[in-house]
Amino acid sequence: MSPSPPHLPKAHPGYTADVAIQISPSILSADFAHLADEAAAVPTADWLHVDVMDGHFVPNLTLGLPVVESLARAAATPLDCHLMIEDPDRWAPAYAEAGAGSVTIHAKAASAPVRTLREIRRQGARAGLALNPAEPVDPYADLLGEMDMLLLMTVEPGFGGQKFLDLVLPKIRRARELMDERGAAVWLQVDGGVSDETIERAAEAGADVFVAGSAVYGAQDPAGAVDSLRAQAERVSKLA
Ligand code: DX5
Ligand code: ZN
Repeated sequence: MSPSPPHLPKAHPGYTADVAIQISPSILSADFAHLADEAAAVPTADWLHVDVMDGHFVPNLTLGLPVVESLARAAATPLDCHLMIEDPDRWAPAYAEAGAGSVTIHAKAASAPVRTLREIRRQGARAGLALNPAEPVDPYADLLGEMDMLLLMTVEPGFGGQKFLDLVLPKIRRARELMDERGAAVWLQVDGGVSDETIERAAEAGADVFVAGSAVYGAQDPAGAVDSLRAQAERVSKLA
């Protein structure tokens, strides 16, 4: 399931395309005054998840392009930018250009998702499409070939520290089924409430990329938390 070369994440020495389980700590729960240090605190993470919120698509405001540009230069781990913004068609390619290795847009915020996903790839990043807990996956089955990652939100987007929504589990299974049927080399990411208590359920259902904010940066030992999450997911995952 190796992605084609233009979509490989940038500048990540430890990256191998055939890893099954990946952990993407969310810096939303980190100390924003020391982002480079917080990135370095999770050296075994596959990605750094960067939540871009505009105060419109979600009722919270975080950071934007200048911060992503600086962090991409300062961090050894590639950036997994999750855009919770209106009009991603206009802004998403710039995040790829700013150095993000992966850029995810929300399906319901995009007016031309196919064009935007293609544009993200053209800028050299992996392209992701996100669905909120209430949005079904089946309508997007034909778009699987246009994306490198499908993000299924396991909380309503906007804030860290919320409770994992078990009601999303059947959709994770369904998404994995659609990917298998179509032979699509698409990563399946879950985001929201992922912790030692919930990661096994999500991995068992077929997720392979796990975002964790409070479970990593709220821990005494963030690096240890990454390793423990990975070990739990690997134990139950049916993926190679
Ligand atoms: C929520 C964000 C998440 C958030 C997850 O809208 O997309 O990435 O940081 O935080 P936890 O892991 O604490 O639920
Ligand atoms: Zn996120």
